Amino acid sequence: MRKPFVAGNWKMNTDSQTGVQLAERIAAGSVEAAGRTVTVAVCPPFVYLQAVTRALASSSIAVGAQDMYSEPDGAFTGEISSSMLKDVGCTYCLCGHSERRHVIGETDELINKKVTAAINGGLLPILCVGELLSEREASRTNDVVTRQLEEGLAALGDEKLSAVTIAYEPVWAIGTGITATPDQAQEVHDFIRKLIGRMYGDQLAAEIRILYGGSVKPGNAAELMGCEDIDGLLVGGASLKGDDFLAIIQAAV
Ligand code: 13P
Repeated sequence: MRKPFVAGNWKMNTDSQTGVQLAERIAAGSVEAAGRTVTVAVCPPFVYLQAVTRALASSSIAVGAQDMYSEPDGAFTGEISSSMLKDVGCTYCLCGHSERRHVIGETDELINKKVTAAINGGLLPILCVGELLSEREASRTNDVVTRQLEEGLAALGDEKLSAVTIAYEPVWAIGTGITATPDQAQEVHDFIRKLIGRMYGDQLAAEIRILYGGSVKPGNAAELMGCEDIDGLLVGGASLKGDDFLAIIQAAV
């Protein structure tokens, strides 16, 4: 039985005060659901991780980073390592978010190194995959997702795979207000689970959590969560509004 997982990706938003206030609001409102029946995490900007972790210390809400570097330490100006993230209380780390792939230019090879370094550093990576609109229109969704998963998970053994969560985020649905229909999302989630089955066997495929992301709102969360292979939601814009994020968590209970 896969425990539902709702994560909020705050992206490059909030400041030290509004970030802590948002965390406190979510902690106060999700006492019942979070930790018991749903895994809940928030991913603030790096510079607010410590303040948010402190604000959530007595709650069961976990904290994740939005990115990390693939090396453990050294001369990598501006980068943040897995051990630094552990040190400030992170449990999760997004790897290969579409904005990192398409705005910053991260490759599958680098993302694979990040996923591996996250696990080696004791973090739980959330590997994000998803196709561009042009790729969907060219019927290339499955090819793109296959490449991103095969390369993103390359050389990761069974034991390490159990630390991984996958997030399917079609790029055309991110921040656009256009959500994949439950059927569109379920079709790709089913494809991903079968692909993981071919790569790692049926048991690990049955256990791995696959989140959907892309314009998730309180109004569409329940029907997305109703799909057989959608195990949770990765929420951007709506995770910045405490009441909306709480309503989405509630839809996953
Ligand atoms: P939106 O929910 O704002 O579309 O963002 C989705 C996302 O990118 C979460 O990682």
